[in-house]
This record gives sequence, structure tokens and C-alpha cells, in this order.
Amino acid sequence: MKHIAVVGVGYVGLVSAAGFADLGNRVIALDINEERIKGLKKGIMPIYEPGLDELVERNVASERLSFTTSYPEAIKGADFVFIAVGTPSGVDGEADLKYVKSAAESVAQVMDGPLIVVNKSTVPVGTGDWIAEIIRTSQPKPIPFAVVSCPEFLREGSAILDFMNPARTVLGSQDYEAADKVAQLHLPLRAPIMITNLRTAEMVKYASNAFLATRISFINEIANICEELGADVKEVSTGMGYDARIGPYFLDAGLGYGGSCFPKDVKALAHMAHEKGRHPQLLQAVMDINDDRRRLIVEKIREGVGDFEGKVIGVLGLTFKPNTDDLRDAPALDIAERLLKDGATVRAYDPVGMPGAAKLMPAIEMAEDAYALAEGADALVICTEWNEFKQLDLQRIKGLLRNPILIDGRNIYEPLYMAELGFTYLAMGRGYNDGNPTNG
Ligand code: UDX
Ligand code: UDX
Repeated sequence: MKHIAVVGVGYVGLVSAAGFADLGNRVIALDINEERIKGLKKGIMPIYEPGLDELVERNVASERLSFTTSYPEAIKGADFVFIAVGTPSGVDGEADLKYVKSAAESVAQVMDGPLIVVNKSTVPVGTGDWIAEIIRTSQPKPIPFAVVSCPEFLREGSAILDFMNPARTVLGSQDYEAADKVAQLHLPLRAPIMITNLRTAEMVKYASNAFLATRISFINEIANICEELGADVKEVSTGMGYDARIGPYFLDAGLGYGGSCFPKDVKALAHMAHEKGRHPQLLQAVMDINDDRRRLIVEKIREGVGDFEGKVIGVLGLTFKPNTDDLRDAPALDIAERLLKDGATVRAYDPVGMPGAAKLMPAIEMAEDAYALAEGADALVICTEWNEFKQLDLQRIKGLLRNPILIDGRNIYEPLYMAELGFTYLAMGRGYNDGNPTNG
């Protein structure tokens, strides 16, 4: 049993804290946000993540997991401290490191024995060295420590599964012994562990996220071409995915990527390249294609309903993807803003994202379910592919809508079936196909 402190109880920190506790370690999770810690002590999760409440509850009950706002309490006697605070985008796209800095300073001021500082926050390449420097200069007296980079690859919505079944663990440090100790913590997860230097580990995270974002923009570009040529991008990506060299993942065309990672990580990587005098042409195209998805769907809605003035548009799904309450850089909010600006009334329904969205955009009216949303609306727009939207009673929806127009930003329905039902169905990259190969 190791003693681990985790700084930050966001998506990454809380899942890691609960996960390491579940593996049998003693974990104290710290956050400077008192509300979050107060809530956690009462069993209230600060985020929605499937399975998280049970995992936290089980480990709190067995006294392996506890919460605090006090650095001395968290760090006293710890073998490891994981830093998992947010790293939002700054003005030029560079990662803003003020939270990482403040966490490193606070740790340095209270550490009472040798400590391995493990950074999980996504930080620009070179930050590990900078963290070491901050700790060195903030310690009241010199105490040995090592910095290890351990980038996090978990996805929101399946974060616990991803924590317990990682594809790999990447560790970077100048201190091999320290990296090896962090490797031991990950051994029960039975995934390949790679130990490299600090900067390389930091780069693996950016390169991985940028590559996945590139796949998404690639398939979205193909979607645009499919639409013009009468091909169906959904089938094209299925056909491509059978090739083991390509694989089926991250080839869903639609509204592009949102969330707290891809948009800011691609921007930050491009910023790092610019700073060194390199022109990141591919990354720039990835970002441009992604931005364009949101404009494009608004044009599709206009194609369906005409001028927005006086129209009611129903938005199905607000979060940036299903199974999370996260609204950071969610395409739906961007789309809603454009619709409102052009005079539409925007009504929305989301299984978990409505309370957060109501705070961010009070102008959006909230409906109690998909059917209430459809009632009297001029069109429905699917922005998030929640499971519960996949088998709606479409006949009923059609009867409730003022016009049977459905714009599917996530390609969850079949064009021919929707046409049969009598919908005007506009999807992303699905050219007209009447099933007759000679008319393709
Ligand atoms: C994580 C990573 O850390 C980030 O670098 C990565 O790019 C995305 O995933 P996430 O877990 O999503 O971030 O962050 P968030 O949900 O914003 O949580 C961060 C937590 O850290 C918050 O609860 C915040 O209160 C806390 N925090 C922030 C501290 O405890 N101390 C600070 O100084 C700043
Ligand atoms: C991502 C990475 O997958 C994860 O490894 C990293 O640690 C954090 O960033 P996350 O942002 O939680 O995880 O979600 P992910 O499932 O990767 O989706 C990101 C965005 O891409 C979502 O907006 C999603 O809708 C979009 N997406 C994903 C597509 O548009 N098409 C796809 O084929 C896949």
C-alpha cells in the first residue's frame, strides 16, 4: 500500500484518485474548491461520470480514499503526489499553466520527506523541467524529489473503464528509479508501460490527441466530398475501418471534436510549433475543418427551415459527447448561439447537460424530453448522440413537429428510412442514395 496525494478532483484527478484507491493504495484527494470537497465528503460527485459514485463510495467506506482542501494534510507522509489540475487555453492557444504552478509551489512548501511528483495535467513539452525548478525554488529547505510525467489518456464517459484498462502507460523522467516506482503503481493494470524522458512523454500526449483529432477532421473532409458525390460517409468509414492498418476508431463524421482536450491540445501543439518557427500546416487544417463543421450545420438548418426569424429550433443533446455532463467547447452551445443570433428561438433537451447549459446560456429554453422538445418546433437538430435518441418514436416526433425536418449532426439515423417516414432528413456527408447502384 502506497500513500498517494492527488491535487485536483476534476475528471482526471478524481477518477485517478478513486482508481488508485481501488487498487489498494491510501489516497488523499485535494482540491482548492471547498464546495467540491464538501460535496465529496457527503458523497456528492462534482462531475457526472458513469460508475464514479459507487467507486468513490466503496473506497471512502474502506478508508482508502479521503478528501481535503489542506495541502499539509494531503502531502504529509505521501510517497507520490499526482498533479491533475486543469490547463485551459490561454489567449494565443498556449496552455495556461497558472494552476500547475500554484499546485507545484503549494506542494513544495509543505513536503516533509522525499516525494515523487507525478504530473498528469496536459502541459507543454518542457513543463516537467519547469515544475522541478519551481519546486526547488519554493522549498523552505532542500528535500529530495523527482518529477515524472504520466500523461492521462482516459475519455470522459468511459473514464473508469479507461483507467482500469489503459492501452498503455507512458512515463517520462530524468530519474529512472522514480519512473520505475510510478510504473509499479500501474502494474496491476496489466498494460504495456513505457519509460522515456520527460519531454518525450509530454509529447506523446499531444501527438496522440492531435492524431485522433486529425482522423476526425479527415473523415469530416471526406464527408463533405461524399455529400457532393452521392456517397454515404458512414458506410465509407465502415469500409475503411476493416483495414487493420486504418482501424474503425475515430472515423465518425459529424459536428467535429469538442470537449476539454482535443480543441485545446491541438491549439497548444500548433502554438508550440509556431514558437519554434515551424508552420504546423496539417494541424492548422485540422482546426479549420473542425471549426467549419459548426458553421456548416447551421447552413443545413437554414436550408431546411429558411430564415430563422420567428422559427423554433429544437436541439437534441447539449454535452460535447454522450455520457458526460461536460459542456466545454460543446458544438451544441456554439450552434445554439449562432441560431439565437440569427433570430431563432432555441429549445433544447439533454439527459444530463441541461442544468449546466441553463447557467451558461439562459436564452436557451429547456424541454423535459425529446417529445416536448419536438412539439411545435420547426426543426430538430441532433447535436449529441445519446443512446436514448437512437430509438425515439419517430412517427410521434413527426406528428409533433410543425415541419418534419430533422438535421442529424451525428448521423444516428438511416437516410432511406427517414425518407420513408416522410422526414426531410439532412445528415453529415450522406449523399443521396436510392439503393439503385446505377443511379449512384
Ligand atoms: C484534466 C487535466 O488535468 C488537463 O490538463 C487535461 O488537459 C484535461 O483533463 P480536468 O480533470 O478536466 O483536467 O480538469 P477540471 O475538471 O477543470 O478539474 C481541475 C480541478 O483542479 C478542479 O476541481 C479545480 O478546483 C482544481 N484545482 C485547480 C486545484 O485543486 N488547485 C488549483 O490550483 C487549481
Ligand atoms: C479525449 C481522448 O480520447 C483521451 O484519450 C484524452 O485523455 C482526453 O481527450 P474525450 O475528450 O473525453 O477524450 O472524448 P473522445 O471520446 O476522445 O471525443 C472527443 C471529441 O471528438 C468529442 O467531441 C466527440 O464527439 C468527437 N469525435 C470522436 C468525433 O467527432 N468523431 C469520432 O469518431 C470520435
